[in-house]
Amino acid sequence: MAAPSGNAPVLRIAQITDTHLHADPDGRLLGLNTRVCLEQVVELAARRHPQLVVATGDLTHDASPQGYQQLQRIFAALDIPVYCLPGNHDERTALQDHLDGTPCHNRSQLRIGGWLLAFVDSTVSGAEGGHIAAAELRQLDAALAQAPTLPAIVWLHHQPVQVGSRWLDTMAVDNAADFFRIIDRHRQVRAVVWGHVHQSFEQQRHQVALLATPSTCVQFRPHSAEFAIDPTPPGYRWIDLYADGTLRTGVERLASIPGVVEAHSSGY
Ligand SMILES: [Fe+2]
Repeated sequence: MAAPSGNAPVLRIAQITDTHLHADPDGRLLGLNTRVCLEQVVELAARRHPQLVVATGDLTHDASPQGYQQLQRIFAALDIPVYCLPGNHDERTALQDHLDGTPCHNRSQLRIGGWLLAFVDSTVSGAEGGHIAAAELRQLDAALAQAPTLPAIVWLHHQPVQVGSRWLDTMAVDNAADFFRIIDRHRQVRAVVWGHVHQSFEQQRHQVALLATPSTCVQFRPHSAEFAIDPTPPGYRWIDLYADGTLRTGVERLASIPGVVEAHSSGY
């Protein structure tokens, strides 16, 4: 990513994604206690002193109120605002009901530090794959049109490009061309950032960085045609934003996996 010239960032963001919490605080996903994993990743992220978190979906695995309440409690330890998007394992209305307030928020855009953050809901009730509804596309287009001078980052849950894993790419955004028509029209967009794929991914599309991020729990093996676990530890993405419209980003992971993953599972 473009390196700024020696200035301090105007905003430090931590993207935390695919936390997959359960109603049971000791609930597991493929052998890993997702609450313990999230607590450790939040502790790791806190060391960089982010000023805001964006949580890009699959925040709970079971859309339970208790799962969302645990998320609020764990994020409260950071003492900074958290902007939440739903994923395919969430329930949009449950998320809105239980993640509205301190520290979690659910909204479509935020102007902060001279930047615009635009949040796009790519979920379809009852479906694993992504689709961006016409109303969401219009909202994104309007948010970008109203702030043509602010560099922007667009956030969503599902990948809008193929990441190279056949099984995961059947669950990408199915109308990505409509999405990129809007992104291409607004030259101030600097990055599109998502979760869902449980792996790090970085690609450049014109002036736009395309970024995906490891889950805070189980990782999926990159470039695998079938479902496969990757033995890399949980992590998160840091993104530093600068006044000149540049950004720096990287992925940071725990030193080891907190637990034993069921490596031979055939799905999740
Ligand atoms: Fe997920």
